[in-house]
Amino acid sequence: MENNYYVAVIGAGPAGLFGARELAAQGVRVAIFNRDIKAGGLAEYGIYPVKHMMKAGLRKQFHQTLDLADLDYYGNVTIGTRGDLTLDELRALGFDAVLVTAGAQGTKSLGLPGEELEGVYHAKDVVFFYNKLPPFSQRKFRFGKRCAIIGAGNVMVDIARHLIYVQKVEEIISIVRRGPAEVNFTKDEMKHLITYLDLDEFDREMERVRPALQAINQDLEAGRHKILDSLPKADPKTENAKFHFDFLASPTGMFGENGFLTKLEVEDNILTEKDGKISAKGTGNKRTIDVDTVIFAIGDKVDESFGLPTEWNEFIKNKEPRFPVDGLSFESPVEGVFVGGWSRKASEGLVGYARKDGISAAKAVWQYLQTKQPANVNAETVVAKMKGLNKPIVTKDDLKRLEPVEAEEAKKRGLEEFKFASNEEMLQAMGLTETA
Ligand SMILES: Cc1cc2nc3c(=O)[nH]c(=O)nc-3n(C[C@H](O)[C@H](O)[C@H](O)COP(=O)(O)OP(=O)(O)OC[C@H]3O[C@@H](n4cnc5c(N)ncnc54)[C@H](O)[C@@H]3O)c2cc1C
Ligand SMILES: NC(=O)c1ccc[n+]([C@@H]2O[C@H](COP(=O)([O-])OP(=O)(O)OC[C@H]3O[C@@H](n4cnc5c(N)ncnc54)[C@H](OP(=O)(O)O)[C@@H]3O)[C@@H](O)[C@H]2O)c1
Repeated sequence: MENNYYVAVIGAGPAGLFGARELAAQGVRVAIFNRDIKAGGLAEYGIYPVKHMMKAGLRKQFHQTLDLADLDYYGNVTIGTRGDLTLDELRALGFDAVLVTAGAQGTKSLGLPGEELEGVYHAKDVVFFYNKLPPFSQRKFRFGKRCAIIGAGNVMVDIARHLIYVQKVEEIISIVRRGPAEVNFTKDEMKHLITYLDLDEFDREMERVRPALQAINQDLEAGRHKILDSLPKADPKTENAKFHFDFLASPTGMFGENGFLTKLEVEDNILTEKDGKISAKGTGNKRTIDVDTVIFAIGDKVDESFGLPTEWNEFIKNKEPRFPVDGLSFESPVEGVFVGGWSRKASEGLVGYARKDGISAAKAVWQYLQTKQPANVNAETVVAKMKGLNKPIVTKDDLKRLEPVEAEEAKKRGLEEFKFASNEEMLQAMGLTETA
């Protein structure tokens, strides 16, 4: 089974780790390069912190992958034009193929006035902050008492939970550009938040948007159900907070005083329908909402500075792939470079989706490898290149030293989980230092 192929995987989130496992199962040697010290990507630094069982289950699977003999892990290494090594420098090491599973690290900015104000944030930064990913874990946020979250997906729900339970925010408004029937969160997630929904206000809001829904012959009850169906399983109310929706509203600007956000301006929308697709259309009517914080939870895009060509927030994929899997293209236009998971389709789906996508991407890589002779890369060259970066590079053995230290800290503090909030502390716990 073993062969002399050596593939570089960039990113150790679910797509990268499951993709690497798939390649290793074919006898391919794999080197994973990961920006973060720890493996797991958003499974470690995105999934809501109290989902301990889910996180533990995923970590167990990730450990099994990292334990594979023919898999090398280089953590604390960023690939990209602003990274430790450019993609071209990595390719120059001679890998037989490169699989990019670096997630969607770019920020979708709407280019609105006031985005620079203190109090205006993007979801990824907030999520990384509360999941303790350095350096976001050390950043200061100003959440205040009244917070608007743009978007109505599961990320909005997670952030609203954090704001209510941890930051003790008093009022949260979800700004939804379309209507109640188009919200994108799931019942299973909304049950953690729905208890804070002000039901009288919700009824008034449904009445306010009734004419717009009727104009496209939409059943008012469809949206009501979509939102309220999570009520029977709602978490108990323990905080003094209020949550509500502002439907048919798109942000148009933020205003502040002395650099601090004070108001969000929105434009009212109507709904249009074409070929079953429901879109929001601005009416020109604008109004302002007093807020301390605005968080954009509108999905992310890939990192445009990574070093691969992009189009419409995504890395370009060959439209006529030589190695399709399930009819999908995982091929970048750069020879031998493939993309998978959220690097193929930004902000799409759950861990299970990223896993499947990473495996499919690996299958595409495997098909490609069959068309070429192994380049017989010397693994020592890769090790030497890593050493030459003059920074601490984290191996899978190093990670094994970090886990017991964090577990011990958790025990001491009586916590279910403890994470060091800085790279320095993690490196120190592993016996590595910044000058290593
Ligand atoms: C807030 C939030 C909560 C979520 N909650 C859930 C949930 O409860 N359940 C669920 O099933 N799904 C959840 N998801 C979805 C799930 O996290 C994703 O589907 C999945 O993590 C995507 O996997 P990925 O490997 O493609 O990318 P990611 O998980 O983003 O992994 C990318 C990896 O690439 C590395 N990387 C990035 N840039 C570079 C670079 N330049 N060089 C080297 N390495 C790099 C990162 O360090 C990271 O390890 C959530 C998503 C978010 C945003
Ligand atoms: N607990 C969980 O299981 C969990 C938690 C978090 C995330 N996830 C998963 O991670 C993925 C990403 O989640 P997400 O919440 O970021 O994305 P999402 O589900 O796509 O939601 C994004 C929201 O932002 C809105 N939006 C997009 N562009 C906008 C714009 N320009 N102006 C105003 N609103 C805009 C969207 O509205 P439109 O619908 O009108 O486009 C939508 O309501 C999803 O698959 C999600 O299920 C899962």
